[in-house]
Amino acid sequence: MNRDPCGELRRGHVGQEVVLAGWVHRVRDLGGVTFVDLRDGSGIVQLVLREGPKLSHEDVVRVRGTVRLRQAPHPSLPTGEVEIEVTNLEILSHAKPLPLPVAEEGSPSEETRLRYRYLDLRKPRMQRNLRLRHRTALAIRNYLSEQGFIEVETPMLTRSTPEGARDFLVPSRLSRGAFYALPQSPQLFKQILVTAGVERYFQIVRCFRDEDLRADRQPEFTQLDLEVAFLEDPEELFTLLEGLLAHVYREAIGVEIPTPLPRLPYGEAIARYGSDKPDLRFGMEIADVSPLFAGGPFRVFAEVVAAGGAVRALPVPGGAGKSRGEIGRLEEAAKAHGLPGLSWIKLGEEISSSLGKHVPPETLGRVAGAAGARGGDLVLLAAGKPEVASTALGDLRLRLGRELGLIPADRWALAWVVDFPLFKEGEGRLESEHHPFTSPRDEDLSLLETDPLKVRAKCYDLVVNGVELASGSIRIHRRELQERVFRILGIGPEEAERRFGFFLRALEYGAPPHGGIAFGLDRWVMMMAGEPSIREVIAFPKTTTGSCPLTDAPAPVDEEQLRELGLKLAP
Ligand code: AMO
Repeated sequence: MNRDPCGELRRGHVGQEVVLAGWVHRVRDLGGVTFVDLRDGSGIVQLVLREGPKLSHEDVVRVRGTVRLRQAPHPSLPTGEVEIEVTNLEILSHAKPLPLPVAEEGSPSEETRLRYRYLDLRKPRMQRNLRLRHRTALAIRNYLSEQGFIEVETPMLTRSTPEGARDFLVPSRLSRGAFYALPQSPQLFKQILVTAGVERYFQIVRCFRDEDLRADRQPEFTQLDLEVAFLEDPEELFTLLEGLLAHVYREAIGVEIPTPLPRLPYGEAIARYGSDKPDLRFGMEIADVSPLFAGGPFRVFAEVVAAGGAVRALPVPGGAGKSRGEIGRLEEAAKAHGLPGLSWIKLGEEISSSLGKHVPPETLGRVAGAAGARGGDLVLLAAGKPEVASTALGDLRLRLGRELGLIPADRWALAWVVDFPLFKEGEGRLESEHHPFTSPRDEDLSLLETDPLKVRAKCYDLVVNGVELASGSIRIHRRELQERVFRILGIGPEEAERRFGFFLRALEYGAPPHGGIAFGLDRWVMMMAGEPSIREVIAFPKTTTGSCPLTDAPAPVDEEQLRELGLKLAP
């Protein structure tokens, strides 16, 4: 039925008769006259009621009335100059007393918010998030369509795709004892699609991973997944994706992202920031001060350096005043990373240091200088395996950066992290750093069997403000090389055939070189919305224990259903 949008009424509408419908946002009963804030999808406007039934929060009403100037304008409300003198009111639906407030922020538990999600989603903030998510998806689809991509759907009932998490399984009724797996990503299907001649594929797609949940992880989440045929150089993809990023940020939140984005080799990211997803919105870079300790007066550090380790230094601006207790707490955090301890240098009135007994002040001064520290700063020193020393300091860098207010909330720092290793050490065997379909660098092929941990991969991550937003690679497109990589991962020919035979065969019938990437759409929208968790940008998310309080899923099923599936629950 025809109605006027509440949120669009302005001074220019004064005198007009309007019909409005929406939810009762706030009620102020002044005896004789009642002011009601009426809310619909477009916003809020004030109604003036002289008579009629008592209204409760979130009742659904339809009113007819006349727009007039407000005596006391409300400056922060877009409709704040006007109000509606109501001549007719109809209650379309009653609302019971609310289990959680809609008009106020309040602090209902997550459980309550999700159980009554239809109320929670009515909050202007949540409506804004849903709209932002829509604008983001629309901008993605428009941009990629313009660039010749087509969106193709891939199956949800499929086989296991190894992305490193546990699978969700679905038992088959027709093939008793057999199971589908829900896809952890459409990785193999998209590679098969480019092999099938879909040269530019994308999909906004649900992925399923049975893993421990965190603020930026859900068991079902959404990826922007894409793949391009005849792609051999990641740089070609970066150029395309930088266009996409600039377009989406502009359309979704009106932010200009300067391109090209910086490229940061993995080794440098670890060394300088102690993380493969560095937050580049602030400085506090980690410095390598090993040469200043090599063969030097402090035996412990000299020995670490002689054994191939490193001494790394983190400058803490204005930290010279930190107490022993405060430094002790930082040391505890560093120890959690496997460091034996933490040393420090303070650039106070005089230079002082936990190494003061062993190392002369001039050397301490040079170390602090190499770390970029200035008067009033503190320098934290970690000695050990280079990666361990850096990641421990990287963790402290983030903690201290936050504590010291050095991370600007309104900045966007995007970068490509490149040159990851192909493998990492798992429990007793090698694992893929990314996934088994990632191509090794051509110049490192000869190291595959002899020194696999040295092999670099043609893969890349997009890091935004310290969050891994997207991850992708150039793929292996030849069966022999794919089988070689499987072997190194401990997947022999039989297992490869059983799990991935369908895919290996596809590589034998003319698979073009190809590569692609997948973005975490929830994470992207979360960051653009300035929200702390992806649950705030998903309409119906799961709790941290993987349940849905709205529907009470997961739930037990009938004996009959189990019998049809040929399943029996273990006692
Ligand atoms: P990957 O596993 O790195 O790569 O996933 C890509 C991106 O998806 C997001 N993401 C998640 N978001 C929310 N909850 C989760 N549980 C979750 N897991 C991952 C992250 C991540 O960067 N097939 C490859 C991509 C490719 O090679 O093209 C893949 O899925 O933002």
